[in-house]
Amino acid sequence: MRITFRLILSLILGVTFVALGFSYFQIQQEERRLREELELRAAVLAESLQESVEPLVARGPSKDLQRIVERFGNRKRLSGVAIYDTALRPLAVTPGLSDQLPRAPAAALEAIRTDQGFGEFQDIKGNSTHIYALPLHSDAAPTGVLVLLHNASHISVQAAGSWRLDFILLLIQTLFITTVTVLIVRWSIAGPIAKTAEWMKKLRTGDSSAHVHLPQADLFKPLAQEVLHLTESLSAARAVAQEEARLRDAAESLWTAERLKEHVKSKLQGRTLFVVSNREPYMHVRKGKEIQVVVPASGLVTALEPILRACGGTWLAHGGGDADRESSDEQGKLRVPPEDPHYSLKRVWLTKEEEQGYYYGFSNEGLWPLCHIAHTRPVFRAEDWACYQAANFKFAESVLAELEGTEEPCVLIQDYHFALLPRLIKEKRPDARVAIFWHIPWPNPEAFGICPWQKELLHGLLGADLIGFHIQFHCNNFLETVDRVLESRIDWERFAVNQSGHSTWVKPFPISVAFSAPASERSVESRPESPKALLLKNLGVKAAYLGVGVDRIDYTKGILERFRGIERFLEKYPAYQQQVTFVELGAPSRTLIKHYHDLLGQVEAEADRINWRFRTKDWKPIAFLEGHHTHEEIQPYYRAADFCLVTSLHDGMNLVAKEFAAANESQQGVLILSCFAGASRELLSALIINPYDIEQMAEAIRFALEMSPEERAARMNRMRRTVREANVYCWAANLVSELSQIPLEVAEPVKP
Ligand code: G6P
Repeated sequence: MRITFRLILSLILGVTFVALGFSYFQIQQEERRLREELELRAAVLAESLQESVEPLVARGPSKDLQRIVERFGNRKRLSGVAIYDTALRPLAVTPGLSDQLPRAPAAALEAIRTDQGFGEFQDIKGNSTHIYALPLHSDAAPTGVLVLLHNASHISVQAAGSWRLDFILLLIQTLFITTVTVLIVRWSIAGPIAKTAEWMKKLRTGDSSAHVHLPQADLFKPLAQEVLHLTESLSAARAVAQEEARLRDAAESLWTAERLKEHVKSKLQGRTLFVVSNREPYMHVRKGKEIQVVVPASGLVTALEPILRACGGTWLAHGGGDADRESSDEQGKLRVPPEDPHYSLKRVWLTKEEEQGYYYGFSNEGLWPLCHIAHTRPVFRAEDWACYQAANFKFAESVLAELEGTEEPCVLIQDYHFALLPRLIKEKRPDARVAIFWHIPWPNPEAFGICPWQKELLHGLLGADLIGFHIQFHCNNFLETVDRVLESRIDWERFAVNQSGHSTWVKPFPISVAFSAPASERSVESRPESPKALLLKNLGVKAAYLGVGVDRIDYTKGILERFRGIERFLEKYPAYQQQVTFVELGAPSRTLIKHYHDLLGQVEAEADRINWRFRTKDWKPIAFLEGHHTHEEIQPYYRAADFCLVTSLHDGMNLVAKEFAAANESQQGVLILSCFAGASRELLSALIINPYDIEQMAEAIRFALEMSPEERAARMNRMRRTVREANVYCWAANLVSELSQIPLEVAEPVKP
């Protein structure tokens, strides 16, 4: 307000000063013009009278002269006429003039002396008067002087009038300018400043509506933009601080990709991380004339990809895609993810025979059913075993070549395809810290004992410094197996195996998923909106409830049992017919193995049979969507499903269970989970079932559908908290921490 007052005062002073200056100049000009006009008029009048009076003057005072003077003296503004002889004695004077002018004026004398007309202004008795004197002659000799007096007081009256008018104009002008200024200040400056200040206050206090309502005032727009940038940084910093405070308050600290990156950096102290797995994270496959990048359906890939993205390093894997060779360099290397490269992928090439014997044969027809107690008989062939050894040698060579030049590298080997690899690496690079993570269950010693090469497998594995399983139960089974088969010292307190001075630590590391921020914390645009009704409509069914299952088509997943559970549920509770549809997103897997190939057919046939039994015109109980589904395609089902069925007959962990919990933001989904999946040890709020018990499964489905919304939310909330806290970054951090802390000892060569 004080600023506005000062601004107005300055404006008034400025305007007054300029206006007065102009008025003064203008009035001066006007006065000069009036005076000149009067002077000119007096001269013209005098000259017109001169001719009439000159012949009479030489004769001295006369009546004629007096008459002429009186007649002439009536003119406008002429206050008197006088004629004097050269001795300045009056010859004729208009009546009354003698009172004002008792003697001849000085102008008369000056006119006689100079012999030409002379005029001046004089104050006579308080009146401004113009006196003009013109010499008179007779035959060129001076005979007298003619004097005209004009009243000039109108000039000062007119000037005073002009001053008065200018003053009024000035007053109006000042009022107008002040009013306009006040309005401009209000509308264009003070108003927008107040709005901008209010907006800035909202930003400062974290009111999100401020971001939307950026003040429109042009004057402050550049300033507002800058402030917006500033507050964005401020909001980000505030969010981090709040999250930190929240975490401190809850005495917890969540693992994120960023935190893992820093953690691994500090643990590895600049050393690169090497990951080895059979399945590669990105496959190049030919589709017609085009080459496409495919992310395989694999729990292992789901778990490891975020870690490599966060930490960088090199991932070595079998190049299994039919366009892999032309998509990598001559060493089989490329940077991935293709759209945003963060780490190196090195592809190891295997012949068709090697792949057949090592992958399909020994790994998936031998070890897979051996470790999964799913009542599928393992097949052990000597030629498969030879291929398994050869492939492990080949990978060892490739890994060793990559390790060259790296001191004390850290190598993380994945899964049952590489039981021999830890020792092959460790023998050549005793300075390497080697860990192997066994993603599938480890059975009891009796079950494992049917493998003809159990000793060799255990010997190879114990080359590692660290062996990880998902759950303690599998660690125990492993140590018991070693205890039975090999000569070694088992430290049951520290869960380690000691062989000829080399220790192998055996620990559980429950794998998990990356728990992404809830949709409410993500931008609205990035949230794919797929409500249940839309998903069902796209499937061409009308139903009130949606169930979901996501699997590789594998006999360990209990898919047939699951379908039978659904059938039994509909049979037992017919009111739910035409009400519930179960969607199975099944990715065909290992189909070159007859058992898997047959299973795919059985799953299809079983779905068809049950559908045929119950289906109506616009409803069916099971929608079997066979094919590879991307993460983005699966998410809407996880979010919209009323229940998710995970019915593994045996499973190391099962990440589908955790993915469902992580994705189900509405917290209205119920997880029905097999007690034979490792996840059942952590997700205690799921409905835990025995997948062999079809009645129990049917009851669990009914129980899930009839559960109160509050209980669903409470259960899902607990599971989500578990998955959020023990996420995949936590898994990787624990694994890398353990590995980096293991003291390096040089192992003596041990014969199997
Ligand atoms: C399981 C194994 C993984 C494997 C995945 C997919 O999760 O533990 O090692 O990657 O199945 O199997 P696939 O044979 O297709 O790689």
